Amino acid sequence: MTETVVPSVPVAQPTREPGRLWHTFCDMNTVRKGPEFTVARAEGVWLWDEAGDRYLDGTASLWYCNVGHGRPEIAEAVHRQMLTLDAYTVYGDFANAPAVRLSERLAAHAPVSDPRVILTCGGGESIDTAAKLARRYHAVSGAPDKVHLISRTGGYHGLNGFGTSVIGMERFRTGFGPLVEDVSVVPHDSAAALEAEILRVGPGRVAAFFAEPVIGAGGVYAPPQGYFAEVSRICQRYGVLFIVDSVICGFARLGDWFGIERFGARPDMIVFAKGVSSGYLPLGGVVVSGRVAEPFWYQDDHPFLHGTTYAGHPTACAAAMANLDILEREDLFTVSLEVERQLDGALRSLADHPLVSQVRSGTGVMAAVELTEEALAERGITTAEVFAEARMRGVILRAVPTALLISPPLIITWEQIDHLVSTLAGALDAVAARH
Ligand SMILES: Cc1ncc(COP(=O)(O)O)c(C=O)c1O
Repeated sequence: MTETVVPSVPVAQPTREPGRLWHTFCDMNTVRKGPEFTVARAEGVWLWDEAGDRYLDGTASLWYCNVGHGRPEIAEAVHRQMLTLDAYTVYGDFANAPAVRLSERLAAHAPVSDPRVILTCGGGESIDTAAKLARRYHAVSGAPDKVHLISRTGGYHGLNGFGTSVIGMERFRTGFGPLVEDVSVVPHDSAAALEAEILRVGPGRVAAFFAEPVIGAGGVYAPPQGYFAEVSRICQRYGVLFIVDSVICGFARLGDWFGIERFGARPDMIVFAKGVSSGYLPLGGVVVSGRVAEPFWYQDDHPFLHGTTYAGHPTACAAAMANLDILEREDLFTVSLEVERQLDGALRSLADHPLVSQVRSGTGVMAAVELTEEALAERGITTAEVFAEARMRGVILRAVPTALLISPPLIITWEQIDHLVSTLAGALDAVAARH
């Protein structure tokens, strides 16, 4: 998730005045007036600022640090790889051993038929890769009019060109002039709405449908029962490629490799990033089904002329391999299901808080605590204020316009979950008392 909300109240741990770093996703005119929150070091679920104060990382940074911070074996793998082959392109016929091994490993676990793996440097880049590949696939398969891309309300797909165009949150699309054309958004919880939209646009014009298994940045919304099975059938019926965006949900956050397995669907492509390397180095990619790969792999004159300089970066791939070793060795796939239950149980205690209208949790190690309309609209309370209050009390959460989001590292203990939730409760009480 990438919704950085600037706190509207000063935090108690100013570390230094802003310098020349232009922070991402924020109003620098606000940030420059206050102290920067400088993270100095991290270990496990904990962060320390430059003053030495400790915070619980309730969001695994931006939903990515699944194995927790400060894992020596990832650092050692990176060090070893740097001394062997630091970096080299995978353009043309160039390959490197870590990129080949990582692709094999991901393909072995992906719920995709006969998979191939394209590597990138992150989620948004992977979304653009998948969108271009979908359009190109139809073009080389004799259906050049199939260009329309459909996504869901609340769906977040990064902020590159195609991602900004298909995002399901209007506020991220405006102000940039014309975006990619031939896109539309359907309600996130209705397979019938997807079918109606395909019929409205015309099945001969629709290239692909994008969906996160559980919507993350858009506010943590799990799919209705049977949704993805129905969506898969609809996509198949109309020759629409089904592209799952597992950037948040993959790598054990939902208890499996790609976050879609528990819903029983087999997509045409899966976009991944974040947890594949737990963010130790930037890495993402797209798992592509053999059917979609076929014209590019087995027919002449269909090169896929797309890629980026650092795709298949051997050191990033080595970090990912060490990260996946930890996920498997510590069986974080099973552990996360228990963490999911514990977090869900603990958060239930907030459902009755007077500022809270809804707690959404229980599908994956991710949750949203939604504030009431009365608190937001009438009392003038902001989620940014709750965020700032919680951070002042030593817990990092993520604020989106109407909710606080929670997505800790998967190694979080029961005591730490309890600390996170009781700190959030205290922050809500303090904010309520101020208004
Ligand atoms: C579901 C989803 N897709 C794509 C992205 C974009 O990834 P990146 O920020 O690495 O470009 C994100 C980022 O939060 C995401 O949550």
